[in-house]
Amino acid sequence: MGPFVDCHSHVVPSGDDGAATIADGLALCRSAAEHGTAVLFATPHIWPYFTLTAQREQELRDAFERLRPRAGLELRLGYELTPARPLLAEDPHRYVLEGTDRVLMEVPFTGPADLTFELAEHIEAAGLRPVIAHPERTEAVLDDPSVAAELAGRGWTLQVNATSLTGRHGPEPEQLGWSFLEDGLATVVASDGHRTTRPAHLDDAYRLARERLGEGAISLFDGSALGVDVTQSQTASRAASRGA
Ligand SMILES: [Fe+2]
Repeated sequence: MGPFVDCHSHVVPSGDDGAATIADGLALCRSAAEHGTAVLFATPHIWPYFTLTAQREQELRDAFERLRPRAGLELRLGYELTPARPLLAEDPHRYVLEGTDRVLMEVPFTGPADLTFELAEHIEAAGLRPVIAHPERTEAVLDDPSVAAELAGRGWTLQVNATSLTGRHGPEPEQLGWSFLEDGLATVVASDGHRTTRPAHLDDAYRLARERLGEGAISLFDGSALGVDVTQSQTASRAASRGA
């Protein structure tokens, strides 16, 4: 099954709630590869109270470089921004999903979505494109699903979690997640994998999506909505592993 492009995971140790060690991160990457993922973006959290200091950036980049050659798939670096006012004063190019013009940012799990709109506008003003993570899991959207339509209506890419589609987060995110895909509001599915009990897998969600949505499901999983050419990436990584 696959090859999949997964633009959202926490497989690189960075001091957040994702992989705690290089060994954990490697296990997550290799398991993702076994489940069909060919390109995996590691997206450490940028939280309002745990930002990207120079020291943290150095440490997580070191961890990333140790993981990358052994991951068993093409590992790329990005971040997941939780909206916070100080981010509006920063150049979002710092947080880009490697090799794309996209920046992954979430709707906060609780509270209103106002700052989400402001941050997405800020990203867009810098010439980049926001990818809005898991709206179906957030209070603002569960309370008022039209917020998701508003975000998509701005031309921003909405990303649903695979675990929402498989029912892991309960019936409401599951139902909302599917409705966003069926209505064409969300165009990307990603794992948001954090740990071995919540791995970076897309295959189960893909199987369900094929049953429900038919052939059209492929583009939700293959990176095409993000401008990532998975075929080229595979070729590149095979060449790299041959030392070409
Ligand atoms: Fe995440």
